[in-house]
Amino acid sequence: MSVPCVAVARERGETVRERLADAGVLDGDHEIAVDGDTIYIPVVDADGIPPAFADRIVERDAAERDRPQTPAAILGYEPSLERLGDIVILDEDDGERASEIAAAVMDSDLPCETVLNRASPIEGELRVRRWDVLAGDGTETIHREYGHEFALDVAEVYFSPRLATERHRVVEQVDPGEAVVDMFAGVGPYAIPMAARGADVVACDLNETAIAYLRENAERNGVADRVTAVAGDVRDLVERGDGGYADTADRLVMNLPHSADEFLDTAVALAGDDCVLHYYDIQHEDDPFGPGTRAIRAAAGDAYEVAVETERVVRSYAPHEYNVCLDVRLTPR
Ligand SMILES: C[S@@+](CC[C@H](N)C(=O)[O-])C[C@H]1O[C@@H](n2cnc3c(N)ncnc32)[C@H](O)[C@@H]1O
Repeated sequence: MSVPCVAVARERGETVRERLADAGVLDGDHEIAVDGDTIYIPVVDADGIPPAFADRIVERDAAERDRPQTPAAILGYEPSLERLGDIVILDEDDGERASEIAAAVMDSDLPCETVLNRASPIEGELRVRRWDVLAGDGTETIHREYGHEFALDVAEVYFSPRLATERHRVVEQVDPGEAVVDMFAGVGPYAIPMAARGADVVACDLNETAIAYLRENAERNGVADRVTAVAGDVRDLVERGDGGYADTADRLVMNLPHSADEFLDTAVALAGDDCVLHYYDIQHEDDPFGPGTRAIRAAAGDAYEVAVETERVVRSYAPHEYNVCLDVRLTPR
């Protein structure tokens, strides 16, 4: 397409481009071109250019610039989005606004196959939510986190990309050869990186679909030989098979924040000597760590010394409520 350009000697190109930019006449939609010793700088308004370049205007074919197009640039405001693999997740109450954002996301340069809007809170024992599919058709994706790949279906399993930093913090504590039990493992975002660090991990979940993905993810990330995936109630791990996994764990992950306290007896039964417990909880800001600490001490009873090594606020969960993690060491008395 032919557009007005300022033609100047190549060595003056950057100086002239800056002056044209200062004058507000640079044409950002077309590419600057070089031909021999001359540089051609597209301008939007031939009449508005500084007088010093008035006799330098030529008409010339210029390629259109391939500019990244963000959803915000299309919408004129910054939408709140979350990315999960090639799925974009919205949390919009206003259906019209949700549809507008979904259309902008699909028209943008974001690599995205599906746009979903949250249609319910996380619900039930399996901690899954319902979704409105606004664009695309699949709820399955492959999400990458700290170098690992997780296949999952957001409509069938729990997964929160917001917990990536927290998971990484815990994973980094793992030493090769440890025996880990991930009691509420989901699709494996703790279990798999822990196995990749050399731990032998028993990963349990009540959700059979999550466990099917966890097995696939263990293969996908080359750690299937160090992950034992168990579909079922974690309470059954204690008594499973030849005495089960009682007294075996060097490390326990308890990421079921609303009801982990109900599983502390199981955790104590699984704990071996000198076991570290990562206990997730949701509590009021006035005393975010007290209830968890007291519940762990009560479950440990006389069997274990309980030392709280870390008290961590993971994120704000609701007004005045925090999602917290206690890293606790259990040592036999
Ligand atoms: C909050 S999700 C955490 C999943 C995973 N750790 C993550 O970070 O993505 C809790 C998981 O616990 C599982 N769950 C709930 N009750 C359970 C039980 N009694 N035994 C084993 N798993 C259970 C749910 O199916 C769900 O996948």
